[in-house]
Amino acid sequence: MNEDYYKGFGKIYFEKIIKEIISIGNLKINEKKILDYGCGVKYLEKLLKKKILNFDINKKYTEINDINNHNFDIIVLNHVLMYMSEGQIIELFLQIKSTKSNCEFIIGIGRMSLINKLASILSFNFKAHTGTKTYPDKQIKIILEYFEIISKKSVFFMTDIYYLKFRN
Ligand SMILES: C[S@@+](CC[C@H](N)C(=O)[O-])C[C@H]1O[C@@H](n2cnc3c(N)ncnc32)[C@H](O)[C@@H]1O
Repeated sequence: MNEDYYKGFGKIYFEKIIKEIISIGNLKINEKKILDYGCGVKYLEKLLKKKILNFDINKKYTEINDINNHNFDIIVLNHVLMYMSEGQIIELFLQIKSTKSNCEFIIGIGRMSLINKLASILSFNFKAHTGTKTYPDKQIKIILEYFEIISKKSVFFMTDIYYLKFRN
């Protein structure tokens, strides 16, 4: 996984994804408490220009140790599920559903198509998909099992953004 994804050519793509995430959830305007799960370098908070909860498995980035000790109304997971096993993804969804069944999710999934691979080579980001545990088709299958789609957007035919709420 390359930490410098908001630099050079790749910045245009990754920044566009964050802007679309903000737009699909109307995150600038509404008062919902946001958790950025797998926040990385906290670009969502930077573009939102307001404080949100930032959690990451990497101690260098995280601001909280346990998401269960915090309140939030919406979780953003952008390009994160791929680094989690199927079991970890399901565990996270079930854990949130049991305590916060009205919590909404915005999930960004890179398609890992030929276009994605070409773009990562052109931006010299050769390690873009290193460390992948769960591929996009499997991520989507799990998502459809647990969520209803409120709306969906695509960014440059490379990333799909899903705005979701739990199935009853
Ligand atoms: C490609 S980066 C995306 C960062 C950020 N979401 C963004 O859009 O800029 C993936 C991030 O997910 C984090 N991550 C990977 N596995 C995780 C897990 N199981 N729980 C929480 N964060 C995780 C990594 O440490 C990394 O910061």
